[in-house]
Amino acid sequence: MKKRVLFVCLGNICRSPAAEAIFIHKLEKLKLVDEFEVDSAGTGNWHVGKLADSRMRCAAENRGISIKSRARQICLEDFNKFDLILTMDNENLMHVKSLIKELDTRSKAQVKPLLAYSIHKDLIDVPDPYYGGEKGFDQVLDLLEVAIDGLIKDIKVD
Ligand code: 4NP
Repeated sequence: MKKRVLFVCLGNICRSPAAEAIFIHKLEKLKLVDEFEVDSAGTGNWHVGKLADSRMRCAAENRGISIKSRARQICLEDFNKFDLILTMDNENLMHVKSLIKELDTRSKAQVKPLLAYSIHKDLIDVPDPYYGGEKGFDQVLDLLEVAIDGLIKDIKVD
């Protein structure tokens, strides 16, 4: 059975689509991509249907990573579909946890901050780069790459 992983941020146009693309990129390199179903979503709905922010797509492209997904909003079915839901910051985590209360059944998905997998144990949140400068996008990608290396290590041990 495929392992299903959903990355979640606020708008689904910066952090979570980048995390999705980095995870897929690293899984492809390891020839593990067929063992996973990977997606991303936002807690908000403002950007539904849009490609990721061009600044984030450009920063990722400079690392050889293509972000192709279009934004969607997280929905209650996601808690039954995915094994792992990984949030970018505490606000996303609180929002996702509040949705669990609306479920008729238990959440099948385990909900965790992505940075729980990072070697940088002092960091809790992937900062929102949307209103910042260009440098912020690269910093976000650096954080995501390290955490996703940790995620893959953890999944391979499982
Ligand atoms: P993201 O960044 O949550 O990483 O996709 C944001 C994108 C858009 C907005 C906020 C955060 N916004 O307010 O439109």
